[in-house]
Amino acid sequence: MEYFTTTSKASRRAVDCVIVGVYERGKLGAGAAEIDQAAGGEIVRLIKSGDVSAKLGRCTVLRDLPGVSAARVAVCGLGKTKGFAARELRQATAAAMQAIAGSKSRQLLTTLTLENAKDTDFYYRARHSAEVIGESLYRFTEMKSGRQPAGMPLKKVGLSVAGRGDAARAKRGAEHAGAIVEGLTVAKDFGNLPPNVCTPSYLARAARKLAGRHKNLTTRVIDEAEMKKLGMHSLLSVTAGSTQPAKLIVMQYKGAGTDAPVVLVGKGVTFDSGGISLKPGPGMDEMKFDMGGAAGVMGAMASVAALRIPLNVTVVVPAVENMPSGDATKPGDIFKSMSGQTIEVLNTDAEGRLILCDALTFARRFKPAAIIDVATLTGACIIALGKHHTGVMSYSDGLAREILDAGMRAEDRGWQLPLTEDYAEQLKSNFADFANVGGRDGGAITAGCFLGKFADGLNWAHLDVAGTAWRSGRNKGATGRPVPMLVDLLLARSGSLP
Ligand code: BES
Ligand code: MN
Ligand code: ZN
Repeated sequence: MEYFTTTSKASRRAVDCVIVGVYERGKLGAGAAEIDQAAGGEIVRLIKSGDVSAKLGRCTVLRDLPGVSAARVAVCGLGKTKGFAARELRQATAAAMQAIAGSKSRQLLTTLTLENAKDTDFYYRARHSAEVIGESLYRFTEMKSGRQPAGMPLKKVGLSVAGRGDAARAKRGAEHAGAIVEGLTVAKDFGNLPPNVCTPSYLARAARKLAGRHKNLTTRVIDEAEMKKLGMHSLLSVTAGSTQPAKLIVMQYKGAGTDAPVVLVGKGVTFDSGGISLKPGPGMDEMKFDMGGAAGVMGAMASVAALRIPLNVTVVVPAVENMPSGDATKPGDIFKSMSGQTIEVLNTDAEGRLILCDALTFARRFKPAAIIDVATLTGACIIALGKHHTGVMSYSDGLAREILDAGMRAEDRGWQLPLTEDYAEQLKSNFADFANVGGRDGGAITAGCFLGKFADGLNWAHLDVAGTAWRSGRNKGATGRPVPMLVDLLLARSGSLP
């Protein structure tokens, strides 16, 4: 995608589509006001006649307006002036993209970047706009036979800016958005692929392929024999029932010499049947998304490599399939983790923490400046926070704050849950150092506490993306979250935000 910024009048640009916005109570956005004037008051008339709605999420496409060079004008409702922020900007842009999805637009211009969304500047308005526009083009049709309907052949996206001084910031925002969309696409594809295709070996191959495209990105894959030597018996206990070999994928991006890296650890359970603690049948297909954490961190890595940010970033993905079989781990089995701590597996469906704990111990060798694990870890996190916020847990208030702030800027939000000692008591075991489950109460938090036992002395945080990494129901599919949040955090850390 090519992005350009422009200060010229929207009515004069001969693009396939111009996106403008109108607020409730008849106030026109800057782009709408200019187009309305050029078209002899047509937009205002259509609002008055009720043919154009100013409600957020609505969009009316007008064709061949007199005095306007563009073939169509997508008029978006922006809702109330007062509540207009990045979220509303994104929602309105998404509505416009949906409204013109069937058109064969190659070039479009959005004027919504001119709107004064709360707490944003031209960098973020351009970034959000370009990100939503780029994301709207995503389709997952790989698994469909026959010819697929062609999507919109969009090639060029223009972003209106007020003055010359804003152009550089907006351009930067669009560039960053392009890389975020690249990362989101990587993450969504991994998530959407069926579990018979997206196996641990597939993820390992995909990581190698990704590294092959960037010269300061390398991938190393550790196999089961080596894991055994490293003492990763907790991780290996999860793969015991599967015929698919487990892989520990390590990707290293070097953008800042010998600096300590930020390490991102992603849960890569390519299918979670629950193991011997088998999950119920309905909806079990969705456990193909249980590698959402892996997809998120590998997606973020794709963005980082595309942007060549001046930072060292390491990705560690423990990839396994959790299956029942005669060889599978049984409730009651006890294993020694790589850290030396022993774990009683009371529920084989609490497998994410069993692979992540060894991955966290392994990651110590990189002497991380910060280490963040990302996992579709608990159904309990969905009960606690729903599907809007990612669960954020950490013993480091500074790192938690950094993550929450990045999430707010990126409109990919997190919410902090407490990790106090009270919860850790629920993990007590009569036979091993501790158990892998802590009962129903505060399930997302006890899972976080479990991981915390392997993060001693690390600047560590845990993101539970069980509710945010995919959508269920009619629009079932991977969301790519938390790629935007992670990329924003890494941009901030590398001093790349304007
Ligand atoms: N992958 C699941 C968590 C999950 C459940 C994510 C539903 C998204 C939707 C995880 O491995 C799991 O099964 N967790 C158990 C933990 C329990 C056994 C302590 C859960 O949440 O029920
Ligand atoms: Mn499970
Ligand atoms: Zn799982």
